[in-house]
Amino acid sequence: MSDGSLRKRKKQTETKSKPQNEASAKEPHHVDDELEIDTATLFRYTRILSIPILLFLGVFLYLNPSALSDAVNAFFGFESEDRFGTPGVSGDALFISDVEKRDAVVEAFKHAWRAYERDAMGSDEYHPISQNGSNLTEAGGIGYTVIDSIDTMLIMGLDDDYKRARQWIEDKLDFERDAEFSTFETTIRLLGGLLSAYHLSGNDSIYLDRAIDLADRILPVFDTQSGLPMSQVNLAQRKGFPNDEYPNLVTTAEVATLQLEFRYLSYLTGREEYWTKVESVMKTIKEARMPHGLASIYMDVDSGKFVPSAIRLGSRSDSYYEYLLKQYIQTNYTERVYKDMYDDAIQSVHTHLVKKSPYARMLYTSELIPEQHPNGQLSWRLTPKQDHFVCFFGGSLMLGSTITGANVQPVSVPPMKTELTEIGSRDWQTGTALVKTCWDTHDTATGLAPEVVHFRIPEDGMDDANMHTPVDWYIKGARPGEHPPYDARYILRPETIESLFIAFRLTGDVKYREWGWSIFQAIEKHCKVETGGYAIIINVDEVPSRKEDKMETFLMSETLKYLYLLFDDTNTLPLDKYVLNTEAHPLPIFTPNIRTPFVGH
Ligand SMILES: *[C@@H]1O[C@H](CO)[C@@H](O)[C@H](O)[C@H]1NC(C)=O
Ligand SMILES: *[C@@H]1O[C@H](CO)[C@@H](O)[C@H](O)[C@H]1NC(C)=O
Ligand SMILES: *[C@@H]1O[C@H](CO)[C@@H](O)[C@H](O)[C@H]1NC(C)=O
Ligand SMILES: *[C@@H]1O[C@H](CO)[C@@H](O)[C@H](O)[C@H]1NC(C)=O
Repeated sequence: MSDGSLRKRKKQTETKSKPQNEASAKEPHHVDDELEIDTATLFRYTRILSIPILLFLGVFLYLNPSALSDAVNAFFGFESEDRFGTPGVSGDALFISDVEKRDAVVEAFKHAWRAYERDAMGSDEYHPISQNGSNLTEAGGIGYTVIDSIDTMLIMGLDDDYKRARQWIEDKLDFERDAEFSTFETTIRLLGGLLSAYHLSGNDSIYLDRAIDLADRILPVFDTQSGLPMSQVNLAQRKGFPNDEYPNLVTTAEVATLQLEFRYLSYLTGREEYWTKVESVMKTIKEARMPHGLASIYMDVDSGKFVPSAIRLGSRSDSYYEYLLKQYIQTNYTERVYKDMYDDAIQSVHTHLVKKSPYARMLYTSELIPEQHPNGQLSWRLTPKQDHFVCFFGGSLMLGSTITGANVQPVSVPPMKTELTEIGSRDWQTGTALVKTCWDTHDTATGLAPEVVHFRIPEDGMDDANMHTPVDWYIKGARPGEHPPYDARYILRPETIESLFIAFRLTGDVKYREWGWSIFQAIEKHCKVETGGYAIIINVDEVPSRKEDKMETFLMSETLKYLYLLFDDTNTLPLDKYVLNTEAHPLPIFTPNIRTPFVGH
């Protein structure tokens, strides 16, 4: 039975946490006073004995000036080492695979892939309950699921499955489809998947040939006034088309999340056109910068300007922020303009979007909604809504802090405080807190997090509404006995697990593996379809769960891959050699031959 918005969080732990924090902030003073009193007493009553002791103490402190503050810090449980984490314990786990858990993830992948292969091989999408496939368009499939899954098979060492999938690509894959496909999805899933398979297979040319064929079909979408690509592409006609709903608009995420794929293809082929097209998009975005430094979710494809629309780290803009950092990493830290754009954006995120929930002080990122006033003025209203998408951001911030926010390369695992700049420390702390928040939103009946979470703010008026007021966060519109809102679903998304993987790699802290294992078990329990495959569940707060007949392709390309990597050792895809695209397709870091002509300041 759903308890939806009538969520009562674990009040007790939260009530405890607040006073504790206040106390620890105050206590050093308090105890110093007590120490003085003790010393006075000592003097009065045991003068003779105490003089040599005090003399000794005085000399000791003179020789070891930090001893007193260290002792105080140790007493109050502050981190006494200069590290973000527990040295000695963390880090060691990195070199050891958790074989049992890793293999359980491989079994889950087989359960998903083999059901798809049995029932729907070659169709774009899979419906595990009706055991049937479907295609994105009437024109026929484009290998959506096969291509999205193939690098995961290579990483997991599933040789036989891999050979069959490769054979399908050789015999059946055809991009000559007279229909419109999403430019963004086609690039991140198919172009990204093919390039990753090319690299991981040891340069099997079949993948590069297919990647070039696909990229050449997509390229005409960039022929617009602003250079921003059109949303849709007809692969047979080799022509871009606008989005049906909003013909002039493109989303920031869809134009700014093609760069890793086209750049790597340019590097492999030596063809500059792939590079310059996606680079001019970045130039346009840089020139369109709004005063507050944040990106609205929509841009105008003609003017190349941002259009007043929501600002958030969630859907329609998430991977813009992700790719700013990753473009800097992919080009082996040679293109400072992406670092500058990233640092600028993250500063603005901290200034405008980072908030804390009222009670447990859960850190989250808010949204800004534009409001046009009758006098024509525009103002921005804060909305405490966080998409599951935003959960990529915790890990991304942690990764960024070890790169753009580091004084040295590489930083330790976990980083020493002296290795990070002030900005780097800020991002590290925001990142770890956000990962924790995303983990905390798994506190539901199924142990899975919903698609969208709202946080409490004083102005929400909920305290008056009923006596079961949620404490820190809730699923908007969820009511017992009523059909669950869209927000209540878990659609097999990877973002929290992605952050857990990065957090584990950067800290070696086994709690991230524990959280990941718990999420994996919840997926096994609530999303698994006995006859094969995994399905969306429509309400994370309902047990037994109600399923919807769809298995998203990112289950096999992202969710299970990140879980596998979380339990594998660091030799698989080390983060200083690879950058993962937004669909978790790994691409190697390289030093480009081409330099960016636009510069950052
Ligand atoms: C499976 O899909 C095909 C083609 O879309 C359709 O004709 C058929 O009715 C579907 N079968 C079931 C059991 O849904
Ligand atoms: C999807 O397209 C592929 C390739 O054209 C085809 O083999 C398959 O049968 C189609 N699937 C469905 C469900 O129509
Ligand atoms: C694949 O190609 C790259 C150059 O693009 C080369 O550096 C690498 O050694 C090749 N790998 C294999 C396994 O041949
Ligand atoms: C990245 O640049 C460094 C020099 O700053 C170089 O030593 C290293 O080999 C480069 N890595 C790649 C993959 O090109």
